[in-house]
Amino acid sequence: MARKDGIAIEAAGAPALELEADALALPVFEDEVRGGGTGRVKELDRLLGGGLAAAMRAERFEGKAGQELSLPTLGRARAGRVHLLGMGERPAGTTPEHGGEPLRVAAGKAARAAAKAGARTLAVALPDGAADVPGAVRAAAEGALLGAYDFLRYKTDKQRPPGLASVTVAVPRGRERGAEVKEALRLAGEIARAVAWARDLVNLGPADCTPALLADAARALAREAGLACAVRGPKEIAALGMGMFLGVTRGSAEPPRLVTVSYLPRGAAARKRRPIVLVGKAITFDSGGLSLKPTESMVTMNTDMAGSAAVLGALRVVAALRPDVPVHAVLGACENMPGGRAYKPSDVLVAFDGQTVEITNTDAEGRLVLGDVIAWAAKTFRPAAMVDVATLTGACMVALGMTTAGLLGPDGPVPDAVLAAARASGEEVWRLPMVESLKEQLKSDRADMKNTGERFGGAISAAHFLHAFAKETPWAHLDIAGPSHAPKERGYVAKGGTGFGIRTLVELVRAWRG
Ligand code: BES
Ligand code: MN
Ligand code: ZN
Repeated sequence: MARKDGIAIEAAGAPALELEADALALPVFEDEVRGGGTGRVKELDRLLGGGLAAAMRAERFEGKAGQELSLPTLGRARAGRVHLLGMGERPAGTTPEHGGEPLRVAAGKAARAAAKAGARTLAVALPDGAADVPGAVRAAAEGALLGAYDFLRYKTDKQRPPGLASVTVAVPRGRERGAEVKEALRLAGEIARAVAWARDLVNLGPADCTPALLADAARALAREAGLACAVRGPKEIAALGMGMFLGVTRGSAEPPRLVTVSYLPRGAAARKRRPIVLVGKAITFDSGGLSLKPTESMVTMNTDMAGSAAVLGALRVVAALRPDVPVHAVLGACENMPGGRAYKPSDVLVAFDGQTVEITNTDAEGRLVLGDVIAWAAKTFRPAAMVDVATLTGACMVALGMTTAGLLGPDGPVPDAVLAAARASGEEVWRLPMVESLKEQLKSDRADMKNTGERFGGAISAAHFLHAFAKETPWAHLDIAGPSHAPKERGYVAKGGTGFGIRTLVELVRAWRG
C-alpha cells in the first residue's frame, strides 16, 4: 500500500460489493441498468430491498454516459453510500477506451462527491468485463486520486471535510497480487502526486509563484527525486545572450531564472543516448506588458507558467520510473509587466542564436522566451526529441476549446510520438497544420522576423515563430492555453490549474525508442 499525498491506494481481489468503505463508486453500462438491473446492479438492488431499482426509476438513471446516481445504503450494504456512474453503451469487442478516460472521469466524479460528503474511504469497482485490468486499474486509481484534489492554501475556513484517506480498487480475485496491477497502481500514484504538485504551483497567486519560487520548487523537487538541477540568474542569462528572454523580463521587478532539471539513467550506455528535452513556458504573470491585457483576460494569467509545472511534474514521475534515456526539463521563468523599463512595441531584440526580432505586440511574450530557451537547449543538449509545452495562444482555445491541446510542428517522429502518448494517457490533443502562408505573416521590414502575425491562425503563426528557433531539432509544440486551467470543475479536474500535459509527457518518455 503506497501513500501518495496522504491518500493510500491499493487493489483488493474481491467483488466490489464485498468491500468495506464509506463510499463505493460503481461504473455501469446501460445494459446493466435495463429492466431494473442485471449482475451486480441486481445484487445491490436485492441488498437494498428493491430501493436501487426504485431510485433509478425515480431519478431516470439509465446508465447513460455522464449520468450519476448517489444513494445511502443505510446499513444494508458494505459501503455506506454508492455512487453509480453511467458509462453509456458497453463498447463493442475488447477495444480499450481512449486511454481509459471515461473510467478516469467516472472515478474522479465519485471521489469528489465522496470527499464532499465527508467519506474517508472509497472503493472503486472496475467496469463490468474490463478486458485490460491493469489499464482500468490505472485509470480508476488516477481518476479517484485526481478527483480528490482540493486547493486550500488560501482558505481560512477550517470547517472542511477531512478528505479521502484511502482508495481501494476492486479487481478480479488474485489479480491484486500480480506485478501488472501493482505497477499500474504505482504509476497512478506517481502521476497523481505529480499532477497535484503541478496544480498547487499553478494555483498560487503571482506574488507567491515568482520566477525565484519556481526555481526553488524545481530545486526542491530535484533534491527529493534525486535529479540534477541548475539555476541561472539575470547575469548568466545576459551572458548567454538571450536577448528575447531579457526583453520580456525587463519591465518586471522580479529577477528571471533559467532552470534546468536533469534525469540521467544509471547505465553508462543509456547515459550517452541523445536525450529528450522538455521545455515549459514559465511566465509567472502575463499582464501583456505595454500591450496590456484587459482585466478579464488578466485574472487567470497566474496560470501562464502551467507548461513549466507540467514539465517539472513529468520529471518527477520520470525520476521514479528510471527509464533508459536521459530527460531534461528546461524553463525560462519571468514576468511580463509594463513599466518604465519594459520592452516596447517597435523594439528590436537579438535572440540567443543571433536572429533579430521586431516586437509588434508585447503580449506575444511566450514565444520570445521560448525561442531563446529552445535554441539554447537544442545547442546544449542536442536532443533526440524536444517538446515544448506552453499556454501560448488564445487562438488555440478558439480553435479547439478549453479541454483540447493543440499539437504543432514540422512532420516527423516527435509530433507522432506525442500524439500517440496523448492517446494512450487519455489527454485530449489534436494536431494543427503548419500552414505555410501563415509563416509569411512573420516577415518584418526592419528585422529578420516580427513576433506576431495576423489574428486568424494565431496558434499556427506562433508555432512557426518557435520553429525558427528549433530549426532542425526533432521538435513538437504543445499549446495548452485551453486545458491548462479549468473555469469550473469537471470529471477528475477541480476548478483552476489542471496539471495537463504530465500524463502525455510521461507516456512519451515511457514509450520512447528513438
Ligand atoms: N498567455 C497568453 C495566451 C493565453 C491566453 C493563455 C488565454 C491562456 C489563456 C499569451 O502570452 C498571449 O497573450 N497570447 C496572445 C498572442 C497575440 C498577442 C498574438 C493572444 O493569444 O492573444
Ligand atoms: Mn501574453
Ligand atoms: Zn503568455
